[in-house]
Amino acid sequence: MQDAAPQVQYLSDYQPWPWLVRAVALTFRLAPRATRVAARLDLAPNPARPGRHDLRLDGEGLRLIRAAIGGVALDVTPDATGLTIPAAALPQGPFTLETEVEIAPEGNTALEGLYMSNGMYCTQCEAEGFRKITFYPDRPDVMAPFRVRVESGLPVLLSNGNLVAQGPGWAEWDDPWPKPAYLFALVAGDLRAHRGQFTTRSGRKVALAVWVRPGDEGRCDWAMESLIRSMRWDEEVYGREYDLDIFNIVAVDDFNMGAMENKGLNIFNSRYVLASPETATDDDFARIEAIIAHEYFHNWTGNRITCRDWFQLCLKEGLTVFRDQQFTGDMRSHAVKRIEDVLLLRARQFREDAGPLAHPVRPGSYVEINNFYTATVYEKGAELIGMLRRLVGAEGYANALDLYFARHDGQAATIEDWLKVFEDATGRDLSQFHRWYTQAGTPRVTVAEDWDGGTYTLTLEQATPPTPGQPVKHPVPIPVAVGLLNPNGDEVVPTTVLELTGARQSFRFEGLAARPVPSILRGFSAPVILDHDRTDAERAFLLAHDTDTFNRWEAGRALAKQVLARMVTDNAAPGPDWLAAVERVLLDETLDPAFRALCLRLPGEDDMAQTLHTAGLTPDPDRIHAARKRLGDRLAQHLAPHLPGLYEALALPGPYTPDARAAGARALRLAVLALMTRIDGGTRAARAYAAADNMTDQTGALACLIEAGRADAELAAFARQWGHDRLVMDKWFSLQSALAAPAGAAELVAGLTAHPAFDWKNPNRFRAVIGAFSGNHAGFHRADGAGYRLVADWLIRLDPLNPQTAARMSTAFDTATRYDADRRGLIGAELARILAVPGLSRDMTEMAGRMLA
Ligand code: ARG
Ligand code: ZN
Repeated sequence: MQDAAPQVQYLSDYQPWPWLVRAVALTFRLAPRATRVAARLDLAPNPARPGRHDLRLDGEGLRLIRAAIGGVALDVTPDATGLTIPAAALPQGPFTLETEVEIAPEGNTALEGLYMSNGMYCTQCEAEGFRKITFYPDRPDVMAPFRVRVESGLPVLLSNGNLVAQGPGWAEWDDPWPKPAYLFALVAGDLRAHRGQFTTRSGRKVALAVWVRPGDEGRCDWAMESLIRSMRWDEEVYGREYDLDIFNIVAVDDFNMGAMENKGLNIFNSRYVLASPETATDDDFARIEAIIAHEYFHNWTGNRITCRDWFQLCLKEGLTVFRDQQFTGDMRSHAVKRIEDVLLLRARQFREDAGPLAHPVRPGSYVEINNFYTATVYEKGAELIGMLRRLVGAEGYANALDLYFARHDGQAATIEDWLKVFEDATGRDLSQFHRWYTQAGTPRVTVAEDWDGGTYTLTLEQATPPTPGQPVKHPVPIPVAVGLLNPNGDEVVPTTVLELTGARQSFRFEGLAARPVPSILRGFSAPVILDHDRTDAERAFLLAHDTDTFNRWEAGRALAKQVLARMVTDNAAPGPDWLAAVERVLLDETLDPAFRALCLRLPGEDDMAQTLHTAGLTPDPDRIHAARKRLGDRLAQHLAPHLPGLYEALALPGPYTPDARAAGARALRLAVLALMTRIDGGTRAARAYAAADNMTDQTGALACLIEAGRADAELAAFARQWGHDRLVMDKWFSLQSALAAPAGAAELVAGLTAHPAFDWKNPNRFRAVIGAFSGNHAGFHRADGAGYRLVADWLIRLDPLNPQTAARMSTAFDTATRYDADRRGLIGAELARILAVPGLSRDMTEMAGRMLA
C-alpha cells in the first residue's frame, strides 16, 4: 500500500496521552518467522487529559491474533499505523488491555523493532521501533514499569532490569523504573559473557556483563574497563549512581547506529565494543571508551529523566554528548579532546547548518524523526550546554544539574524545563539563550580592532544567515572568551568572557602599554564562525605564544587554511610563516605529541571547500586536491632533515597499550611517516607495514602506501590476514574507498562493491564502502558525475531494505549549493532520480525532498 502525502509532525500540536500506563507485562515466544508477543497493559485515565477519548495505539506490520479488555474479546481491525478502540467500547475507570500479535524478526532488514543478526535476536526501539513489536502508545512521555518473559530455545535470554526468574527455555525480567517504550530491549542468542563487578558508593553490588558471540570473548576487556570508569566518574562528577543490580552490554554486528541506552541492557554496534591491540586502532579504543560512557550516562540523562516528545531529543542527546566529552577530557587530555570535537563540529554540524538540511537544535517539525539524529541535535546540542556552563560558571552549572535531577527525576521533560532549572538555580534570565534552541544556522562573528595608544577596543558583530524556513534571524547571546598578549608574547589580559548579546558591541581594555595581540574565542567558547582578518605573521605568533592550547592549534589551522586558499585560488607557493611555525611545534618536546600530531594535520578537502564557499568563492574539488597535495609535499621537504630522527625517537618500547599517552606518540609517529612517504614514495612505510604489531600501525602504514599508489601487495596480504574478521575488513574497504586517487575512485569503488565480501545489507560494510567514498571529496565530486551516480544507485538499492541507513547516507548530497552550476545540476538530477523511485521510503522522501527544495 502506497502512503499518502507524508504526515508532518509539529511540536505545537503536543497533547498528553489520555491514559496512564500503570504496568506493562510482555511475553515473547521467539521464532524467526512467527514470533508471538502477548501484551498486558494496565491503563487508567490520565487526569491531564480529561474527557472521553478513543484509545489509539501505534502498531506497524503486526498481525493481530487477539485483543481483549477486562478479559472480554474485542472485535477490532488494525490499520496501517495502529489500532483504534472506540471510546464506546472502553470502561470508565482503570482497565486491562490484552493483545497478542505475530511478527517475523527474520525478515526485518530495517533493523528497527525486533530483528535477527547472525542467528541472534535483538531490538532497536528508539525512536519509534517499539510499534513494530506490539500495539502500544509509542511515545516517550508514556512511562511504565515493564515485566518481560522470554521463551526461546536459545541459551541466553535478556531484557531490561533485574532477572527475577528463569528455567529451561525461559527467563523473566523486571524493570521497576518507569520508562518509555523506546528504552525497551530484548536479546536472545548463543552468547558468551565477559563479566565484571561494580559497587556503587552507597554499597549496591552491580553485576556487569559484556555479551558477545563465541570467539569474541577475548576482545571485551577495554569495554568493561571503560564501563567501570564511566560508572565511577558519574558518581564523582555528577553524583549519579546506578540503580539496578545488573548492567548488561550486548555487541551486535548489524546495527544502524552506534549504540543504544536501553535501560540496564545497552545494545551496541559490535565495532564500538570489541577491541584488541591486533584488531582495533587507537581511535577505535578512544571511541569505544567514549560511546560506552555516553550510553551509560544516558541512564540518568535520558532514562531517569527522558524527553516529553521527540522534538526534545537534544535534551538527552546534547547533554549526554557534553557529559561524555567532559569524561573523555578527564580520562585523556582536555585540549586534545576539544580540538577533535571542534574538528568534528565544523566538518559535520557547520556543514549541515550551511545547507538545505539546516534545522534548529530543537526542531519545530519533522516527517521522520530518525532523520533528526543529527550533528545539530547531538553536537551543537552539546555546545549549547557548554555555553550555558561558561555563562553561569562551574558552580552554577553543578547547582542547576542537582536541581534538574531533583526536580525532574521520573519525568519526561522539555527544553523549557531544562532552562528553567538554570534560571532558578542561578537567578539568570535565559530567555534570549532560548533562541539557540529554536534558531538554525551558524552565527558569524566579525571582529574589528581599534588602538588609540592606551585603550584597546574590540568591536564584535554577529549575523546569522537565513536557513530553510527561517529567513529572519535574531541575535543570540554569545560568550566570547578573550585574552590579550603583549608583542613579546606575554599575556597581559588573561581569559575573560565577553558576552555579545546585541548585533554589535564594543569592549574596551584600558591601561595597556602597547597594542596587544588578541586571542579570541579561546577554547572555542561558542559554536560560531569567526571572521577576523589577520596576517600570516600574526597567526604564526599566536601559534607560538598563545597560552590557550586550543587557540594555538586554531591559529595554526587558520594559517594553514589561509595558505592553502591562496594556493587554490592563485597557485601561490606556501609562505615561510606557516612552514617555520609548524616546524617549531613539531620540534617542541614540551608539547604533547597528540597535540603536535594535530598541528601537523592539513585541513581536509571538504573543510577547504566549505571555507572557500563561506568566503564567497566557488570551490573546485580538483584544484583543492592538487593544492593540498602540493602543500603536504612542500611541508615534507621543509621538515625532511628532522623526520628520520623523529621517527626513530618516537618508537615506543614494550607491548602496545591503548592509553592516551601511547596513542599520542603513535599518532605523531604516523604523521611523520606520512610526511616521509611524500619524499621516499613509501619505502619506509612498506617496512613499517611489515613490522607492525598492532592495528594502529598496520592501518597507518597501509594508508601511507595507498596514498603513495603502491599498496597492492599489502592490500592483498591484509585481506589474507584478516578476511575472517568483519570489523577489520571494514577498515580494508574504507581505507581504499576514502583514499582512492580521485580520477579513478568511482571505478575502484564500483570494483569494491563487486567484491564477494561486500555484504551491503550490513550497515557497517555499506558505510565502509559507500560512506567512505562520499568522504573522498575529489573522487565523489568528480566533474563527470560518476561519483554521484554510484552513491545514488546504492542508496536506491538500500532504501527498500533499510530506509534509516539509506536516508542517513543521503546527506552526502547536502553540499550541492557550494559548487559550480554543472555539479549542482548533476546532484539535483540524482536527487530527483531518487525521489522518483516508486515506493520510496518516508525517510528518504523527506531527505531528498529537503535537499531539492
Ligand atoms: N540514543 C542513541 C544514542 O545516541 C541513538 C539511537 C538512535 N537510533 C535511531 N534509530 N535513530 O546514544
Ligand atoms: Zn545518545
